[in-house]
Amino acid sequence: MRLIRSIRTMQNSALALKRRGKKIAFVPTMGYLHEGHLSLMRTARRKGDVLVVSIFVNPAQFGPREDFSRYPRNLRRDLALCRRAGADVVFAPAAKSMYPEGYSAYVEETRLSRGLCGARRPGHFRGVATVVLKLFAIVQPDLAVFGLKDFQQSRVIRKMASDLNLPVTILAVPTVREKDGLAMSSRNTFLSPSERKEALCLRRALLRARRMAQAGERDARRIRAAMRRIVEREPSARIDYLKIVAGEDLRSVRRIEPGAMAALAVFIGQTRLIDNIKLK
Ligand code: PAJ
Repeated sequence: MRLIRSIRTMQNSALALKRRGKKIAFVPTMGYLHEGHLSLMRTARRKGDVLVVSIFVNPAQFGPREDFSRYPRNLRRDLALCRRAGADVVFAPAAKSMYPEGYSAYVEETRLSRGLCGARRPGHFRGVATVVLKLFAIVQPDLAVFGLKDFQQSRVIRKMASDLNLPVTILAVPTVREKDGLAMSSRNTFLSPSERKEALCLRRALLRARRMAQAGERDARRIRAAMRRIVEREPSARIDYLKIVAGEDLRSVRRIEPGAMAALAVFIGQTRLIDNIKLK
């Protein structure tokens, strides 16, 4: 496995691989890897000839009051995990090479990024789309794998790739969870033992939503109220958003229709967690 820090070196290697007819599979991450990331890597490994994983905590997708500086980092551990997962290349550029002095080009998806996390984190998806487009230009992937834990992100990236005619296939894989149902996230490491227990309220609320929908409840407001009650029982929980949206355009709906999803973001203490579920 090769660790590449230089953008130029990564791009030249990628172009050389492609000239040799290799299919490049790519998993972009911000590091502090867990089983969720590894599941993306396994899918990518199967689908391509060469697996490239990027590790880059992207400053452009964090708001001024968000956790960029305290986002967890551990490159040594990440490299060992990537090696074990069969990565051929780990690309870990420096922030100042990705965004040098005077950097001024950004890309924005303007429909699917509006609601949910986009409404609560202005500029977040602009930062995500920009870095992913840059990474695509550098890594030249034939396919790239994203996780459904961040389902809005996966939809925004897929839309960007299609609207901008990028020659890359976007795959989205299911959320990997801890045994008790908590969605794996690099940010789970911030939770104290008592917060870790309270964090289960996200999954519990989503399962309640799905059970209600499956039992025939069609009123989104009633489902949201039941979800809210579950989350609000936890002393450290503060709801950032809690929505029922249509699967295709991610707009809030009043009636549950096929494809509807429940999605929520909750602060547990200082830590913002997100999760989602398909209702039927
Ligand atoms: P990060 O949070 O490190 O996640 C990298 C990829 O892993 C994303 O596609 C995310 O959806 C996926 N992932 C995270 N937790 C998961 C879980 N429990 N199960 C399955 N997949 C999971 O998302 C980002 O980084 C960044 O926004 C990035 C796309 C790298 C751009 O900076």
